[in-house]
Amino acid sequence: MTASGGGRLARPRAQRAAAAGSQGWCAFGAPGGRDARLHSRSRVCAALIFVLLLAACDALPGKPTEEERPLRPAQVVDFNTLYGTNCAGCHGDNGTLGAARPLNDAIYLSVVGFERLRQITADGVPNSLMPGFGIAAGGSLTDDQVDIVVKGIIRRWAGADPLNGVAHPAYAAPPGDAQRATAPYTTYCAGCHGSDGRGAAKGGSIVDAAYLGLVSDQALRTAVICGRPDLGMPDWRSGAAGAMSDRDVADVVAWLVAQRGR
Ligand code: HEC
Ligand code: HEC
Repeated sequence: MTASGGGRLARPRAQRAAAAGSQGWCAFGAPGGRDARLHSRSRVCAALIFVLLLAACDALPGKPTEEERPLRPAQVVDFNTLYGTNCAGCHGDNGTLGAARPLNDAIYLSVVGFERLRQITADGVPNSLMPGFGIAAGGSLTDDQVDIVVKGIIRRWAGADPLNGVAHPAYAAPPGDAQRATAPYTTYCAGCHGSDGRGAAKGGSIVDAAYLGLVSDQALRTAVICGRPDLGMPDWRSGAAGAMSDRDVADVVAWLVAQRGR
């Protein structure tokens, strides 16, 4: 029984009762009534009351049952639906090959960690195209739904200790020194992105103002640490030249950040 259904029915019922009083409907002592007419009127009254009772009990034919009703957005608890509706458009179906970095990336998930993943999902990344999905950030996902998305990403895509205990550069750190970046850039990046970053056979430009203007420093750092495994960019330790040191990572990030203003 719904409140709106009750309200919708309550007014006509009251009006009918008032009408019945003035016209003698439903009253056996109707003025000038013959027996037959009284009889049929009382039958009409009984039918009317029956219909009103039925309607008030939500049992009208064709009315959807509780299970058939579409879920309100806040009631969705299925990971595939939540990920597909909210994330896949940018991070790719199944978490790869989207415009934004893959989330279906065990190394990345190991580096970023649960707390940070949850915080970014809820709050978004300021001044980027990554929106905040939590209600406090103006998004539409409840706390429970943010948990379902984040735990689902980890359950499906984190694997069991992909780094096998190997230390990794910290997820977040201040940019290093752009002046020191020439050597590590040449060693680790130029082979694919070209000596000036404008792109070569195996990688596109990474110095486009349009690109750099849209991404945060952290997104650049994340790319240097975790690569784009879905597109063939290695992570910090798996390129042809071996592993980058923490300092190499920070210095190359500083160089990328410095390209923004050019
Ligand atoms: C084996 C080739 C290869 C190497 C080595 C490589 N990249 Fe990439 N990189 C790619 C490919 C492929 C992409 C996907 C986009 C494209 O096609 O340019 C990419 C994407 C990127 C992106 C964009 C990431 C995003 O958000 O999608 C950045 C930034 C980047 N590379 C920086 C670097 C830096 C800095 C280095 C050196 C530390 C490096 N890359 C080394 C191949 C490479
Ligand atoms: C409109 C496109 C868009 C949608 C939709 C979107 N993202 Fe993003 N996401 C981005 C972009 C762009 C970035 C890079 C932001 C930056 O510059 O740091 C990003 C970054 C992230 C990062 C941080 C990556 C890093 O560097 O550590 C996480 C985690 C993330 N998104 C999770 C999600 C989840 C989970 C959803 C769905 C609930 C989602 N995103 C939906 C565009 C999107």
